Amino acid sequence: MNKIQSSLVSYGLETKGSRDYMKEAEKHLPGGVAANIKHFSPHPIVMEEGRGAWLKDIDGHWYVDYLMGYGALGLGHAHAKVRHAIADQIFRDGTCLFGTPHQLEAEFAKMIKRHFPSIQKLRYTNSGTEATQLAIRLAQVFTGKRKVAKCEGHYHGGYKDMLYSINPPLDEAGEMALPLPVPESADVKVDGNEPYILPFNHIEGIEHLITTYHRDLAAVILEPIQAGYIMADQAYIDRLRQLTLTYGIVLIFDEVKTGFRSALGGAQEKYGVEADLTTLGKVIGGGFPIGLVGGRSDILDVSSPSRGADVFEAGEKGKGSAKDILFHSGTYNGHPTILAVGLATINEMESSYAKVLDFTTSLRDGIDTLAQKRGLPVTTYGAGSIFNVIWKEDCKVRHYRDLQNTNTKMRKELDFALLQAGVYTKPLNRYSISAAHGKEELEFTLKAYEKAFHQLKEGAEIS
Ligand SMILES: Cc1ncc(COP(=O)(O)O)c(C=O)c1O
Repeated sequence: MNKIQSSLVSYGLETKGSRDYMKEAEKHLPGGVAANIKHFSPHPIVMEEGRGAWLKDIDGHWYVDYLMGYGALGLGHAHAKVRHAIADQIFRDGTCLFGTPHQLEAEFAKMIKRHFPSIQKLRYTNSGTEATQLAIRLAQVFTGKRKVAKCEGHYHGGYKDMLYSINPPLDEAGEMALPLPVPESADVKVDGNEPYILPFNHIEGIEHLITTYHRDLAAVILEPIQAGYIMADQAYIDRLRQLTLTYGIVLIFDEVKTGFRSALGGAQEKYGVEADLTTLGKVIGGGFPIGLVGGRSDILDVSSPSRGADVFEAGEKGKGSAKDILFHSGTYNGHPTILAVGLATINEMESSYAKVLDFTTSLRDGIDTLAQKRGLPVTTYGAGSIFNVIWKEDCKVRHYRDLQNTNTKMRKELDFALLQAGVYTKPLNRYSISAAHGKEELEFTLKAYEKAFHQLKEGAEIS
């Protein structure tokens, strides 16, 4: 048995509590999980405690956490500012839910607008998924057009309109410049309602698709930094901005991952480009569920109840019809506790961001150098406080199709070796850094990498 196989065997032995729990959970939850993303083979690790940059599993192992709630935890686990913000809001206000307007709604909006100059007005949602859904609806009503274009390899949440070509098999995905829509869920079909699929970082591809289909194209939505770690060429973003302006198409930057991470002002700050609509989520809730859509007032205002009657007021004298406005609502939108936590989180991130970037640079440099020393084809890719570890001979990654040529098998082996050395991210997932990561975590992680690289190199030589 080589070293690689033995690391999977010992994974099974060391995470026995997790394996047993998952067997039990499968009796009650499909696949044993509350969200499909939590699942991985042979079984996920079940956590029971989180503190600062660390997570503890139910078998008693501690891990430096780089998943950070898929990037949602900008300050690490249960930062003191977060704990106090929860208590302060509830004790000060006496309730955690008014069901009426309250002052934090505008205060939080002002903070977001300071970082995102393209945002004039905004609406809150309860998740990133809801935010992109609302952004698309706003664009459709504003332009009077129906179709949407999204990029191949980009994720915007789990609903039918957007579950196309996120991770498509290349033999179904058509040509690079003209990708085909590939369904990503059992309830999704190519039946005329699917989005157009744009190639990321391919200027001729977007020029062709947008000039051909602009008449029925309401919006282009994309992750301006793919998966939070693959930057677009400046020329691509500039051309996309130009084309969407020329043809009256709403440009939506989905910055659920990149907001307050690739820069405090997200990818827009990095590229110096303003989107028409921006969606945010994850870190802005400091670990609690939130999303928002912000952007041009003239677009956001199509959902304003002061323009007419909404569904609850229809029929009131002189108010017009519910069809005059875009209905958007939600019991928990603008939740006081979540806005208080989000505000405290972003305030703290503003002062800790430089330190977070320093940590990210040191960790990435450390990993790159260790890989080079061992002669392993491993390179980190990223922007701001997010990066990923790519196992690829020529180390060039510019879009989804380049990712298909990376060695995911070896990356997984690396992930399992790291899990056993006490470094956590979901296998194949990106790394998100928080303000809680410091010198101790850096040294610990680089030691774990040294050990894992050594193990993989030896394993590769033996097998
Ligand atoms: C770019 C992007 N958009 C939308 C979403 C959906 O957000 P949520 O999981 O909060 O619904 C995600 C989640 O990972 C995301 O990364």
